[in-house]
Amino acid sequence: MTSDTVTITDNRSGESIELPIIEGTDGYPTIDIRALHRLLGFYTYDPGFMSTASCASAITFTDGEKGILRYRGYPIEQLAEHSSFLETAYLLIHGELPTSEQFGLFREEIMVEYNRLHEALQSFFDGFREDAHPMAILVGAVGALSSFYPDATNVHDPAVRMKAAKRLISKMPTIAAWSYKYATGQPIMYPRTDLDYTENFLYMMFAVPTDEFEINPLHVKALDLILMLHADHEQNASTSTVRLTGSSDANPFAAIAAGIASLWGPVHGGANEAVIRMLQEMSESGDIDSYIARAKDPHDRFRLVGFGHRIYKSYDPRAAIIRKTCHQLLEDLGATHTPLFDTALKLEEIALKDEYFIERKLYPNVDFYSGIILRAIGIPLEMYTVIFALARTVGWTCHWNEMMEDPESRIGRPRQLYVGYRKRDYVPIEQRGAQPAAEEGGR
Ligand code: ACO
Repeated sequence: MTSDTVTITDNRSGESIELPIIEGTDGYPTIDIRALHRLLGFYTYDPGFMSTASCASAITFTDGEKGILRYRGYPIEQLAEHSSFLETAYLLIHGELPTSEQFGLFREEIMVEYNRLHEALQSFFDGFREDAHPMAILVGAVGALSSFYPDATNVHDPAVRMKAAKRLISKMPTIAAWSYKYATGQPIMYPRTDLDYTENFLYMMFAVPTDEFEINPLHVKALDLILMLHADHEQNASTSTVRLTGSSDANPFAAIAAGIASLWGPVHGGANEAVIRMLQEMSESGDIDSYIARAKDPHDRFRLVGFGHRIYKSYDPRAAIIRKTCHQLLEDLGATHTPLFDTALKLEEIALKDEYFIERKLYPNVDFYSGIILRAIGIPLEMYTVIFALARTVGWTCHWNEMMEDPESRIGRPRQLYVGYRKRDYVPIEQRGAQPAAEEGGR
């Protein structure tokens, strides 16, 4: 906190107030507007939270202009080179990198202690239609965990919260893999405690009880990187949803289920699935230019999925890392000349040279490349957002915990700028003529 202030003057009355400027450890200074309504009688208007810090957080730092992403202070580039998803999960949860002893204990908790699902949870899967989207199953099954762990409702006990977070991180791969198995009619595979986190997930997805299963280390490495890059991204839509849901002291399984629902949308976590659908369509039509023209047309709602980002307006640092892995993996797998990848490369090249995209600082984002990688390692399209949810469960639980510990946290309750009718009197039905159209109603 500094002693600097910002003066706000109501030019209608000439009344002024001083609002404090809060400095974080990095990033933009922030005006503390909490007293604004009490002192001057104003709310602030900020749809989409373009200028609003909804909380203080010490987990992840991003700088959209400079293309920076750091988890607990560590640059994502360094973590991508030296760490693993599970170690990064420890870092995000506990705030520090683990010693080997600490990591061993954490691995034991995640891969052994908490990783089994209650057998009764299987019947939840049977209740879904066979063609249910795995995200629908994920929302339902994670919400249903609330009923298996009623102790987790004691959300003000830090030990209970940590246990719930670890349970979620540990069980998510099993729920995710089972949602796929259910949709494909294959027998479910139980988690294996001898495998690493990412290996175990691929095993539960692709192994069948009747055959030997070999895990391709190239697939494991690429997927582990995708999980790490998606583990947290500060106050995005789904994380804010988890915080808002949890701010009412809702239980963690319900709060995370709400986050999963938010992530599902195609302009958030659903983007990696939408990228491949778009590339498939483009590749079949062979006419990339017409898609670019549509994306640029202000009267057409079509957008190039996998391009642009709310905060990264120079480049997405995750995209820079994953682009290299994507090219390398396709080379190693001998898959560089598929029609879909050819289309992706052409699109990347055209869009990067086009004035429209340059002017608006629209670059391929992490989802553009993660979609291509997931396809190359054989993950079915419907599972892409599920995998994102798997990774982001780490970030969601960290933010939920941080919020619950923060003495400044309040139940989330935004205000609004009301633009509807002013007070009017009820008219009995027999006296009503034609109602004016809503837009003629006036304020
Ligand atoms: N294709 C074409 N034009 C675009 C695109 C796009 N993908 N993204 C933004 N624009 C244009 C907008 O039409 C707007 O143009 P205008 O100034 O002429 O009106 C301008 O660029 C700014 O766009 P905004 O919508 O203001 O940008 P915002 O920051 O609100 O949106 C978003 C970011 C939602 C990610 C957007 O870029 C988009 O829809 N991208 C496609 C979906 C996508 O890939 N989502 C994944 C995000 S990454 C993640 O969730 C991990």
